[in-house]
Amino acid sequence: MNVLVVNGPNLRRLGTREPEKYGSTTHEELTVLVTQWGADLGLDVEVRQSDDEADLVHWMHESVDAGTHVVINPAAFTHYSYALRDAAALVTAEGLNLIEVHLTNPHAREAFRHTSVISGIATGTIAGLGIDSYRLALEAVARRVG
Ligand code: DQA
Repeated sequence: MNVLVVNGPNLRRLGTREPEKYGSTTHEELTVLVTQWGADLGLDVEVRQSDDEADLVHWMHESVDAGTHVVINPAAFTHYSYALRDAAALVTAEGLNLIEVHLTNPHAREAFRHTSVISGIATGTIAGLGIDSYRLALEAVARRVG
């Protein structure tokens, strides 16, 4: 089973970006861990990151066409990208899982982070558990498709 893990803007800077909030694991290290966790669950995981909204929209379209489940940390796009929401809605409308993940708990942070335009169309949301949010999201996909 293929799963696309998508990381949005600024997540390439993991490890050095506000480590007190986002932890010290780099994006490269996260990629290795997530791929391994997926393999342990029998999932074929590909991790991508982009700062560009259009890339994320196109990757949702690609997932629909390929029948790929999605784990997505939309980062700041979470809070305002209706384009990404509409694209992500196509994934769940296909009956594919789309799990929204966050390293931090946005509800415990600034007010503008309390709104997610993605949550309403996601299969589920896992937030606030650091990189474990990704592991739990993969577990959820594995259980739901298994
Ligand atoms: C984030 C939370 C967002 O509010 C923020 O813009 C991010 C990361 C998280 O993983 O905690 O870039 O999605």
